[in-house]
Amino acid sequence: MRDDSSDDVFKMFNPSSVLVTGGAGFIGSNYLLHAVRAHPQTRYVNLDALTYAGNLANLADIEGAPNYSFAHGDINDSDLLARLFDEYGFDAVVHFAAESHVDRSILNPTAFVTTNVHGTLVLLQAAREAWEGADGPRRFHHVSTDEVFGSLGSEGHFTADTTYAPRSPYAASKAAADHLVRAFGTTYGLPWVITNTSNNYGPYQFPEKLIPLVIRNAMTGAPIPVYGKGENVRDWLHVEDHVDALDRVLHQAGTRSTWLIGGDQEISNLELVHMLLDEVDRATDKEAGTSRNLVRFVTDRPGHDFRYALDSSPIQKELGWRPKHDLASGIAATVSWYLNNAAWMNAILGGDYRDYYKMQYGSRGMN
Ligand code: NAD
Ligand code: DAU
Repeated sequence: MRDDSSDDVFKMFNPSSVLVTGGAGFIGSNYLLHAVRAHPQTRYVNLDALTYAGNLANLADIEGAPNYSFAHGDINDSDLLARLFDEYGFDAVVHFAAESHVDRSILNPTAFVTTNVHGTLVLLQAAREAWEGADGPRRFHHVSTDEVFGSLGSEGHFTADTTYAPRSPYAASKAAADHLVRAFGTTYGLPWVITNTSNNYGPYQFPEKLIPLVIRNAMTGAPIPVYGKGENVRDWLHVEDHVDALDRVLHQAGTRSTWLIGGDQEISNLELVHMLLDEVDRATDKEAGTSRNLVRFVTDRPGHDFRYALDSSPIQKELGWRPKHDLASGIAATVSWYLNNAAWMNAILGGDYRDYYKMQYGSRGMN
């Protein structure tokens, strides 16, 4: 844990009204599905622009909950934010909304600066204006990524004190947003917390990301693109474990503190792809090893970070958090979820996805 101030740390924050941005995306929807039911006394307002990555179907189970509502809009819309703060009197913001896919940031970096940097600035301004001179505790929780720290070799872990060294447009935009959040704390006294997290997986992830993409392609017998030689290493965290950590940080962490949340489940991309394909074969009664034939090694991602790994011992020691899923059981449950929810997947795969897929993989020899 990195603590940027020792003077205003206090414990147990119970917000009454929370603005959640990007709650129709992968992690945001998993967060709301948990939080709305776990904290019935707290109101949650989900502000989401419903980009290609936002899907209200993810939230069907809480749609009618009395402590949940949805607002369609952009975090760059300062008038809308002022109205929402006025109407709901938020005492916390949990900020997920972002452009989140590294490959898209390579194709079109501008959208990443617009939402992740400028959008975060507009949201910070709205919170600052609404909270200036207000009584009682407040929190601005920025949900960030391990990618702000750059790329590791085969040894070592990032800590909250690691110097920032982002290498993709996505990572640079998230790093800029982290800096803005801390600067608002130092300059204007805005009470913030930041979490930097490793690769998430689980239900409701858009199939541009490795795990749902591999499962979907295996389900339809399509080739599986593995960048380079598949040697890059990621640390995988089940989204339910991430949500549990986020909930603890919002309620228990002191202001101006930074928490790293990793799964301690490192694996190379090729090993992970094989694990997923073997699980699909097992779950669909195919002969073991059948789907491995779908793997194609394709042109590497430019500037591909080799490895990420996080030292999560502070959140384990200080907030009592532990991941409940190991990778093997988490992957089995995730494969089963996607196999049982083919309709959810098919509903989001329209022409836009086909265009994206062509642009991303066509030049790599796959369509
Ligand atoms: P996602 O792409 O699945 O969802 C992003 C959501 O934000 C979508 O619902 C989208 O409609 C919404 N959104 C985008 N632009 C918006 C705008 N201008 N205004 C309002 N809403 C907008 O992303 P995710 O994977 O759920 O990631 C959520 C957050 O967690 C991001 O900030 C990301 O950087 C961070 N993060 C993700 C991971 C991961 O493995 N997925 C890991 C660490 C951190
Ligand atoms: O580390 C946290 C980050 O994890 C988050 O901040 C990002 O929002 C999230 O998208 C994720 O970024 P990655 O780039 O690591 O995830 P992705 O699923 O895109 O890729 C995982 C690894 O798999 C990466 O090394 C690239 C590789 N890959 C990916 C795709 C889509 C392939 O080999 N083939 C593919 O087709």
